[in-house]
Amino acid sequence: MKIAIGNDHAGYELKLAMKVWLNEHGYEVKDFGTGSTDSVDYPDYAHMVAEAVEKGEFERGVLICGSGLGVSMTANKHQGIRAALCWIPEIAELARLHNNANILCMAGRFIEKEVAVQIMEKFFSTPFEGGRHQNRVDKIPLK
Ligand code: RB5
Repeated sequence: MKIAIGNDHAGYELKLAMKVWLNEHGYEVKDFGTGSTDSVDYPDYAHMVAEAVEKGEFERGVLICGSGLGVSMTANKHQGIRAALCWIPEIAELARLHNNANILCMAGRFIEKEVAVQIMEKFFSTPFEGGRHQNRVDKIPLK
């Protein structure tokens, strides 16, 4: 699976750990930055990742900022994106089962690495249930 990953300064440390885990588990990862803890604007990175996933260049995306809020708000402006802010593995599982989420957002300042790994495990291994959830997902976009 090809994954696009991006973050702001507040998500940099957690991003590094997530990249290690993804590479170790056979995912193909492209890092859209930022590449340090120097202050940047999260929309610049969230838009790049969301656009790449929306175009179909990557199957899924991972976005990390301090709270996870800014990157999820930004990514969800893209029509083809369903970005889910996840803080426990159970939410990541539901984001896939019910919402067919294609971008995982996490709060770099509030999540332990071990929990973030559990969240990613669920997000990347859980299929979309379809059925009645497909009808609901189809109603999300503004016409
Ligand atoms: C940066 O200080 C912080 O505002 C940002 O990482 C994020 O939490 C915004 O939603």
